[in-house]
Amino acid sequence: MYANSARIQTPQSGPHPRLLEVVERHRRHAYQRPHAEHSLAAFERLQQWLAAHPGRQLILDSGCGTGASTAGLAQRFPECGVLGIDQSAARLGRAGVEPGNALRLRAPLEDLWRLMLVQGIRPLRHCLWYPNPWPKPEHLRRRWHGHPVFQQLLALGGALELRSNWRLYVDEFALALQACGHQGIISAIAASEEPVSPFERKYRDSGHELWRLSVELS
Ligand SMILES: C[S@@+](CC[C@H](N)C(=O)[O-])C[C@H]1O[C@@H](n2cnc3c(N)ncnc32)[C@H](O)[C@@H]1O
Repeated sequence: MYANSARIQTPQSGPHPRLLEVVERHRRHAYQRPHAEHSLAAFERLQQWLAAHPGRQLILDSGCGTGASTAGLAQRFPECGVLGIDQSAARLGRAGVEPGNALRLRAPLEDLWRLMLVQGIRPLRHCLWYPNPWPKPEHLRRRWHGHPVFQQLLALGGALELRSNWRLYVDEFALALQACGHQGIISAIAASEEPVSPFERKYRDSGHELWRLSVELS
């Protein structure tokens, strides 16, 4: 049934007690896991696409799911190139027609972000909308702010916007940002706002509170 998404359940009563320790460790040691072959192929496609669209500023839709949000961004910012990245072939397989100023790529974000960083590709805006929450405390390192790639994600720069229906995720992200010298601003997303993505629509229609964190990383 639609519009009956369960609220996030977690045994955590506040930010993870080891959050800052984990962030600090990742600040000291750059994430260096070798890139997957298919990530390199996806990155090659990105470079070709960028070469075919010179001079366009880039908007990144990280974890774009079906790419509906990518299409929405492409329509809203016709002067920009919009890149949607998701690792799920099933989700991307449900994508509609790709607008002329958009590209969807199947790849793990932790690889694409690092490849972009090394090659000097920087987004103007970076949308991180409804990342998987990983609410179990033992999965802290799977949340983006607890992941070893967090430093490279920040180094990519741009106006980053995280959206989530789990306030604790947003609070932890803000604390991790602060530990790295950035000040994020958290605000509620009004139920009257037009949803930017399928998950936002689903959560809104299920009556969840929705949160946005904005930070300028440039
Ligand atoms: C909860 S869905 C949100 C999708 C979309 N942003 C929306 O709001 O409708 C999270 C998405 O992140 C993708 N994802 C999770 N981890 C990823 C990773 N490491 N690399 C690429 N995509 C990832 C999943 O495949 C999934 O489509």
